[in-house]
Amino acid sequence: MRPQDLIEKKRDRRELTRDEIAFLIRGYTRDEIPDYQMSAWLMASFLNGMSEPETQVLVEEMLHSGVTLNHDHIALPKVDKHSTGGVGDKTSLVIAPVAAACEVAVPMISGRALSHTGGTLDKLEAIPGFRTNLSLEEFRDVLKRCGLALIGQTKEIAPADRKLYALRDLTATVPFRPFMCASIMSKKMAEGIDGLVLDVKTGNGAFMREFEDSRKLAEMMSSIGRTMGKRVIALITDMNQPLGRWVGNAVETFEAIETLKGNLDGDFAELCLELAAQMLIAGRVESELESAREKARAAITSGQALERFRSCIEAQGGEPRVLDDPKLLPQAGKQRAIIANRAGFVTGVETDEIGRIVMDWGGGRSRLEDKIDYSVGLRLHAKIGDHINQGDPLVLACFNDQSKFDEMNARLLAAYRIEDSPKKPEPLIRMVI
Ligand code: URA
Repeated sequence: MRPQDLIEKKRDRRELTRDEIAFLIRGYTRDEIPDYQMSAWLMASFLNGMSEPETQVLVEEMLHSGVTLNHDHIALPKVDKHSTGGVGDKTSLVIAPVAAACEVAVPMISGRALSHTGGTLDKLEAIPGFRTNLSLEEFRDVLKRCGLALIGQTKEIAPADRKLYALRDLTATVPFRPFMCASIMSKKMAEGIDGLVLDVKTGNGAFMREFEDSRKLAEMMSSIGRTMGKRVIALITDMNQPLGRWVGNAVETFEAIETLKGNLDGDFAELCLELAAQMLIAGRVESELESAREKARAAITSGQALERFRSCIEAQGGEPRVLDDPKLLPQAGKQRAIIANRAGFVTGVETDEIGRIVMDWGGGRSRLEDKIDYSVGLRLHAKIGDHINQGDPLVLACFNDQSKFDEMNARLLAAYRIEDSPKKPEPLIRMVI
């Protein structure tokens, strides 16, 4: 087989066979197929679509590009959560310790920032010293000792996704259901879990902007997970405004810590409690959602979840004192308010643009090798439905590069829609599958 023949086949809208998909994924993982040919295949598939059988094979090939873990040394149920990517979404930092405090082991393999969305790994690495590149042996050991372990993809686990994830980000081929499904499910099925909670985002900050597309993605992933013998619960959640109050790496880690300390107001905490409760259901430690929610809340109010996070930070080489003194997280040199230029109700936010502003100010990457400025971030004072007066601070910007301030100020103001009549935000949890 030759890659160019398979690119041609996809270009001409023909279906690839199992062997052909296997040839592409194995060849690319072994560095035998170059990025430029894989990019062409990605774009041809993106534009012309992939069938269900092709998607199923893609998941299997990506999963089997590496090892599948087994945590039989831990008697607890093993459950993970994965989000399809959003802005301000730092739920993993809260719910992994909460679930661990409720006797569910969480072997979590997360990603980095992708396109305009943030990545759990980058938020964790904002904690000085925190290592997300544990060996598999260390991963298993931390999981056993702390009940949770938070790492990035290794060369051993779904290495095909590790390479393709980066290539898709750079070739504008991320928001495509079969690729997202294969990317997420290949690494999750390799983790050695019994259950999985999927947070499928929908709205203008999500890769799937339309509800119907998000629903199809949720169904596709749930059905693949169940075929592979896992208990899967998918939530479709709103991403028409950033989640919580902060967007950026260190600032989101700070917000997650505040939540673990018991600050349970607002949409971010609400989603954390819901996702954590669903993890307890998926792990069968609770059978009723209401009691699962109460248990998750109690894990926070008792301080147990915070202590789980402390032990995980320590075990992964991080500075645990960030939990007591947030000033130990990277701090931006400058802070300035972005001032509302009219009075009214916030009726809309261009969520993806908020993510891009943080990225362009240094908080994300445009190339894989770019270094991130962990300290850059935004505090969003107004959410959809809130009233503001002209002259009120709309956003607090934390940054280092002063030369970009005027441009970012203008972009931030343009990202908000402020009107005379109020508008209710969409419900946070739109559907549970
Ligand atoms: N998260 C992933 O892990 N993969 C995607 O393709 C999108 C979000």
